[in-house]
Amino acid sequence: KENKLWGGRFEESVTDAVERFTESISFDKALYKHDIMGSRAHASMLAKQGLISVGDRDGILEGLNEIERLIENGEFVWRTDREDVHMNIEAALIDMIGEPAKKLHTARSRNDQVLTDFRLWCRDAIDLIVERIKHLQVALVTLALKNDGLIVPGYTHLQRAQPVLLQHLLLAFVEQLERDAGRLVDCRVRLNFCPLGACALAGTGLPIDRFMTAEALGFTAPMSNSIDAVSDRDFVLEFLSANAIMAIHLSRLGEEWVLWASEEFGFITPSDAVSTGSSIMPQKKNPDPMELVRGKSARVVGDLVTLLTLCKGLPLAYNRDLQEDKEPVFDSVKTILGMLEVSAEFAQNISFNGDRIKKALPAGHLDATTLADYLGVPFRTSHDIVGRSVALCVSKNSQLRDLSLDELRSLNPVFDKDVYEFLGVENAVEKFCSYGSTGSSCVASQLDYWISKLQIS
Ligand code: ARG
Repeated sequence: KENKLWGGRFEESVTDAVERFTESISFDKALYKHDIMGSRAHASMLAKQGLISVGDRDGILEGLNEIERLIENGEFVWRTDREDVHMNIEAALIDMIGEPAKKLHTARSRNDQVLTDFRLWCRDAIDLIVERIKHLQVALVTLALKNDGLIVPGYTHLQRAQPVLLQHLLLAFVEQLERDAGRLVDCRVRLNFCPLGACALAGTGLPIDRFMTAEALGFTAPMSNSIDAVSDRDFVLEFLSANAIMAIHLSRLGEEWVLWASEEFGFITPSDAVSTGSSIMPQKKNPDPMELVRGKSARVVGDLVTLLTLCKGLPLAYNRDLQEDKEPVFDSVKTILGMLEVSAEFAQNISFNGDRIKKALPAGHLDATTLADYLGVPFRTSHDIVGRSVALCVSKNSQLRDLSLDELRSLNPVFDKDVYEFLGVENAVEKFCSYGSTGSSCVASQLDYWISKLQIS
């Protein structure tokens, strides 16, 4: 067996079971790019500070380039006995260039190294997710533009409530996604501080320049407390919280579309490209992608809970438990990226059944609130009058707009013939015209806002 990089004080090697149990290379090799970035910055800083020679630095940088090339070509041999990504790369560098490589870990511990890698990785992941969020927003706005003027029932308690423009409804999801992106952007600002140089926990007596490495890696500044730098994982908790909230939004979008695709709603027809069939029922065409968007939100929530539970009760500073922080983060990111991608594809592959929706619109007295607003008597009184008008409709199996003026007046003399300008969903929806409402001019300005913000042409 090879001597461990930390093997000096040990007389025996670890058992195979311990080696298998404690390794992280099987998953943390995903950090290789950021680990190499960190090492490049560290080596350059060490040379500038006179802690290693310029020749050693160049040897290290060349070796790191070669290792990166090997990894990217799939030619690098990852070794479980070398534990993690940090020691795999360092040991390979020593094999490759010898003595100078042994100086790379000057004024560095894996404790600050892993966090440097992880913060860099999360920063890139956030940028990727924010881009995908925008892509889904564009798909939703594009779908809205394709369905100009379509009125759908709006629901509360899953009962028909008030008429809304489909565009208004779709933009509700766009707004939610904007806040989801905002949470990630905020999180990115807070996580973008550099732990490198905190070393094991106490910092170092060697004359390093933490500002130089922080800047080289694109961080805002070095973290000011070395103990904090190596012990906290709040940046991942925040990241996974943002993902979990977004996953819940996407899950609700999924539920909405699954309902809409049902025979009972019949609002949308998903194309074959985003549907799957049944192994027994030949007629079936199911909206599985959106069911799985709903389902996979469970993983994203679970990943957050795993991490919260992991951190609870840990004493300062670094504890090996923290190695368990990576897989939930990788899983959360992979899952949320898939959810965003498939939701966008679904949006691009559904058509609204305008005629069918229109035919069913008279059901549910969606114009009742508009009528109550029209009467110009105290709202409680007007609520009561309209309530009795609806009861009359229910008994006659008719709509409010079909009641004659005499019938309406028999309920209350306040009705006049202009009442018919307020009845029927087409009239009713237009009366919702204050800021943020569903009337067509409000929605048109909301749409304009999103078209220019998302740069949709
Ligand atoms: N693989 C470890 C992790 O991910 C790196 C840090 C290990 N540090 C240590 N002293 N054992 O947390």
